[in-house]
Amino acid sequence: MIIAIDGPAATGKSSTAKAVAEKLGFMYLDTGAMYRAVTLAVLEKDISLTHVYTLESFLTSLDLNIHYIEKTLMIELDQLDVTDRIRDPEVTAKVSEVSALPAVRKTMVKFQRKLASGKDCIVEGRDIGTVVFPNADLKFYMIADASIRAERRKKDLLTLGKNKDISELETEIKNRDRKDSTRVHSPLSKSEDSIIIDTSHLDFYEQVNMIVEKIKTIQKGKT
Ligand code: CDP
Repeated sequence: MIIAIDGPAATGKSSTAKAVAEKLGFMYLDTGAMYRAVTLAVLEKDISLTHVYTLESFLTSLDLNIHYIEKTLMIELDQLDVTDRIRDPEVTAKVSEVSALPAVRKTMVKFQRKLASGKDCIVEGRDIGTVVFPNADLKFYMIADASIRAERRKKDLLTLGKNKDISELETEIKNRDRKDSTRVHSPLSKSEDSIIIDTSHLDFYEQVNMIVEKIKTIQKGKT
């Protein structure tokens, strides 16, 4: 069973996907983390995004691996754990530009389908219900007010030992949403058959349980 969770930046998709997966014994896949890892590699290797052949050979030789350590996703790049580094501000600032490239999307979508197909998996991102798994068993679209998202992102960064001004974070989040929604290839958009979850005033456990209950209803129908 594939469950798609899409939505703009910092709406709580990753933490929700992880908690829902844990409750149901499903796998989860954070596709944003994959785009962040590619972006980190682009920055580290100083890859030109305008040179098609350079980019394609970079993508062919990309050594990106996903592991689950005690049910938590670990991202490895060139055999090094980059799970924390992909959240660096330089990566966040560049990720929308890298993710908009058709060659990057093609490689990542193929990889995502390979990782999740045939499994019980919660897959979260921007284009899961529209492009990666258009036939997902259930689709959710998470939204929240920008100011609340900025507050949540500030807390996330503080746990990583980083401090950032809240208004700066809100501007960044809005910019990223604009870039992600207006790009030509696989833009962030809500598919018609997805269920909207507005997390602005929901407590984390409420939103997790809401999704879990809807999945359980579908599961019952399948048995
Ligand atoms: O966690 P946060 O909301 O900051 O974003 P993320 O899920 O880590 O995704 C980072 C970026 O990757 C997004 O802003 C998109 O540019 C890109 N992305 C994408 O293009 N397609 C996906 N399926 C997932 C992420």
